[in-house]
Amino acid sequence: ANADHRFVWERSDVIRTMPKRKRFSHKGTYGKLLVVGGSQAMAGAVTLAAKAALRSGAGLVTMAVPETVYEAVANRVPEAMCRPWPADDGAFAGATDWDGLDVDALAVGPGMGRTEGVRRLVSELVRRPVPLVLDADALFFWDDYAEQVRVRSAPTVITPHPGEMARIVHRSIREVEHDRFGVSKRLAMEYGVYVVLKGPYTIVTGPDGSQYVNTTGNPALAKGGSGDVLTGIVAAFLLQHEAVQPAVSNAVFVHGKAADWLVQHGHSPWDVLASDVVDALPAVLASLT
Ligand code: APR
Ligand code: MG
Repeated sequence: ANADHRFVWERSDVIRTMPKRKRFSHKGTYGKLLVVGGSQAMAGAVTLAAKAALRSGAGLVTMAVPETVYEAVANRVPEAMCRPWPADDGAFAGATDWDGLDVDALAVGPGMGRTEGVRRLVSELVRRPVPLVLDADALFFWDDYAEQVRVRSAPTVITPHPGEMARIVHRSIREVEHDRFGVSKRLAMEYGVYVVLKGPYTIVTGPDGSQYVNTTGNPALAKGGSGDVLTGIVAAFLLQHEAVQPAVSNAVFVHGKAADWLVQHGHSPWDVLASDVVDALPAVLASLT
């Protein structure tokens, strides 16, 4: 690993690179996001990601969910649109229904499950020529579509926790945690992707091998749903930033900062819910303007 290309991404970097909201703008200026996720057992994940994206400035957010969970999901985020896609046994059946969809970025993974239908769907979605965030169960099938990812021309961001990373690189979690910088860098450079290796001191690695460490966040985030919130913020920032690396690093910074703000304002490290992290985004974003 080349220590010359490792930096801490600081508050001053965030303030310098956060895009301004322009006076002469409309929702289309800030992008249309499609969040693809959900299944019978995990209907909430996609709503967390969608709400986080809206709170992070995305112009229009649509959730694509298996049709069998449509009723449970559709009205949970009134500001988002929802689209039922073919389902099989409570999860995606594989095919998309892209009719009439106009999408500037895709976030795929929250609560999808790991069925054959999900495998086929994700392999199809990575071929779409728009910026793409892959998280959670979408990463379970990495080997099936990794070669498609390598030849994508639009940016690809993957957000594995150490367990997901271990599966992607065919190593143990222990090996991943022992060489977080090296494992991230090899993967990012080999596939031309932005890698967000999560955990305390999350590392963002670009396809050029440059690495940025995040110092915000705390163990309040060690609870189901935190990662889904991050996925939504990353996708929303991708839509609004000129450059990918600052977009991703800013998202990781803001996500951690929201958890830090909560434990400084009446929450304990035990009680924080992922939805509280979404609710803390206004305070954090307001402090960065
Ligand atoms: N300190 C700082 N940040 C932390 C800490 C900590 N001790 N613990 C967790 N975090 C942050 C991580 O950096 C990451 O941003 O919280 C987030 C946790 O993300 P995930 O591990 O993806 O957790 P989760 O939301 O449960 O994922 C949802 O996707 O990963 C799959 O199997 C998982 O189905 C589950 C779903
Ligand atoms: Mg996760």
